[in-house]
Parts: sequence; structure tokens; C-alpha cells
Amino acid sequence: MKNVTLIATAAMGLESIVASEVRDLGYEDVTVENGKVIFQADVSAIPRCNLWLRSADRVKILVGQFEVKTFDELFEKTKALDWHAYIPEDGEFPVIGKSVKSTLYSVPDCQAIVKKAVVEKLKQKHGIASWLEESGDLYRIEIAILKDVATLTLDASGAGLHKRGYRIGQGEAPLKETLAAALIKLTNWQPDRPFVDPFCGSGTIPIEAALIGQNIAPGFNREFSSENWPWIGAKVWEKALEEAEDLANYDQPLDITGSDIDHKMVEIAKDNAIEAGLGDLVTWKQMQANDFHPKKDNGYVVGNPPYGERIGDKAQVEQMYRDLGKALADYPSWSAYILTSNENFETLFGRKATKKRKLFNGFIKTDYYQYFGRRI
Ligand SMILES: C[S@@+](CC[C@H](N)C(=O)[O-])C[C@H]1O[C@@H](n2cnc3c(N)ncnc32)[C@H](O)[C@@H]1O
Repeated sequence: MKNVTLIATAAMGLESIVASEVRDLGYEDVTVENGKVIFQADVSAIPRCNLWLRSADRVKILVGQFEVKTFDELFEKTKALDWHAYIPEDGEFPVIGKSVKSTLYSVPDCQAIVKKAVVEKLKQKHGIASWLEESGDLYRIEIAILKDVATLTLDASGAGLHKRGYRIGQGEAPLKETLAAALIKLTNWQPDRPFVDPFCGSGTIPIEAALIGQNIAPGFNREFSSENWPWIGAKVWEKALEEAEDLANYDQPLDITGSDIDHKMVEIAKDNAIEAGLGDLVTWKQMQANDFHPKKDNGYVVGNPPYGERIGDKAQVEQMYRDLGKALADYPSWSAYILTSNENFETLFGRKATKKRKLFNGFIKTDYYQYFGRRI
């Protein structure tokens, strides 16, 4: 198999960022839909996208797509696909599913039918009369039906791509690594500029900034379900890993600081950075956000402060936003990017944002308030 159709799934609102990451890896002809980015590529894109996509949730392989209204149709059309080209004799292939606005709405039934159709196809093509052992590598199948169109995919990532492997500790409201990377990508920070997260918590934003700053592939220290798939081949994976090693720029100096009011979080962030292999590349400090006194100009603040959603916290958080606005106003050359669900943020902070962008932090509707600094 030389070419595949890949789907990089994305959280709502992050599709265009994932699409530009896909294009940056050299893949053209990218289609963007709700929650996904679809593109054609050769098989080497499977390891490359898994290793490099910073803001995508998963990399999936499109096996087939068809209209479906009955269970018989689902069975026959699923069975007609080339499952044997992807799943070997011993492959383990659980089926997960979802159905939205479709005639076939019973997800457990759809999953069972897909499973049965794939079993039959594999037995027939691999020449096996008995039970399939399913003792080998994982090939997770997904059946997703939307408005009577079924999409069948294989998950090439395994654990979601946000699981970089470095977050050994976390606080109460950690940001997903994929969203943290997207927040940085939405700024025009360059690695030679100062970067500060004054609400660093477990350190996700500064760690992702350091990975971006030194061009380190975010998936370099983890495993993927497709690592041992025979039709991709160990050589293709090795080549992608070598490429990641070659492209990493460990000599790039960085000026990244993460601070938090809570010294326990600062310790956790430090440990996570060490786990990420970033050692002392990021400066960590225990500090109040409004004690902001940078020595350099033209820096970037990127932060995910508390939102004050819990009863009793709101007034305190709002006062903190006011103080933050005053503290940052003294440094007009700095750009500030703040993610919060507080709809009154601009008034509290004391300035209208240059730009705003709606983003979901998990299920919480937030805005990303962007204040562009005046370069000096
Ligand atoms: C939503 S969490 C940040 C989570 C972080 N992005 C992560 O991925 O772990 C907000 C953080 O702000 C810190 N914080 C609250 N008030 C603060 C203040 N006035 N100054 C600095 N940090 C503060 C909290 O201790 C908490 O760790």
C-alpha cells in the first residue's frame, strides 16, 4: 500500500490550526470539516503526523465511506472494504461507534455488525476457518454515521495525541497539551522572544512553547498503536524518528518562564519539564501574576488563569483580572494572550482585545483574548 487517506481529528475550533500543521508537514490538498482535517498522503505520513501534529487529537486512516440506511447495507458495504490490507491475521480490532442524525441510530448494533463484517472478510482473505485469535497489535476501528453516511476508520494513534508522556503530575484544571500548543500557535511568538505563562499550573503552556521553540516533535517520547503495523513497516517509522531527531534544534536559546502563585504547582511543573527532557530550559518561579516586571521588551504572555466559575471564587478572580490588566499596561511592547470563560474580561482587564477567538477548553466555552504589543 502506497497511499492512504488520513483524517487528523481536531477539537472544535482548532481545525484550521491542525490544517496548517498538516500543510507545514508538506501535505497539500487538505479538506477541513467540523472536527477533522482530511488529506491524501503516502504511508510515511502516518508516523510523521503522529510524531509532529501538536494540536490534533488523533491520526486516523480512512478505510471507507458510504451511504447507509439498513443493517444489511452496513454489513455488505463494510465487508466489501479491504480490511485484510490493513489488519493481519492476529490483529486485535475492537469497534467503537457513534451515530448522529441517522436512520441507523443504535450504536451497539452498528458496532456489532461492523465487527461481524470485518471478521468475515478477514477469515475469507487470510484463509482462516476457525476463531480469530486477536492476540496481536491493536487496530481500533471506528464506525461514525452522520446523516446516513458511514465513515469507517482505523485509529493509528492509540492514546490521544495530547498524551505526550511528560505530564506526570497535574493540578485541578490542567489544559490539554493539544490546546496549549494551539494557543501558542495562535500567537506570532518567535523562539528568540521572551515568553511568560504567569498561571503555569502544571507547566503545560511553557513546556509546549519550549517544544515548539526547539522544533522538538511532541510525540517523540511516546508510543503509537501503528508503530508495529506490518504494512507501514519498521523502516518507515525509523525514518520518521530519524527525521524528528535531525530537525530538533537543541541549540536554540529560549527565554521561557512559567510562574504560579502556588509553590506546589511550580514543583509539579518543574518535574514535568524534566520528564519532557527539557531540564532547566524553562525558568520556573512561585509568583503572583501581577508581580510582572520583565527586564526585556517585546515579549509574550500566554496564560490560562482561573475562570472563577466556582461559587465564591468569582469576585476574587475578577479582582485578579483587574490587577493583571494594570500590571501588563506598564509594558506596552509585550503581547498578551489570555484564555478565559469570563465574558466580562475586557472590561475587567481594562482594554479591548485586538482580536478574540472562541475556543472550547474541554466543555467550557471560552474566548482567547489577544492583545498585540507595540514593538519597540
Ligand atoms: C487553570 S490553572 C492553569 C493550568 C495550567 N495551564 C496547566 O495546564 O496545568 C490556573 C492556575 O493559576 C494559578 N493562580 C491563581 N491565582 C493566581 C495569581 N493571582 N497569580 C498567579 N497564579 C495564580 C493557580 O494556582 C492555578 O495553578
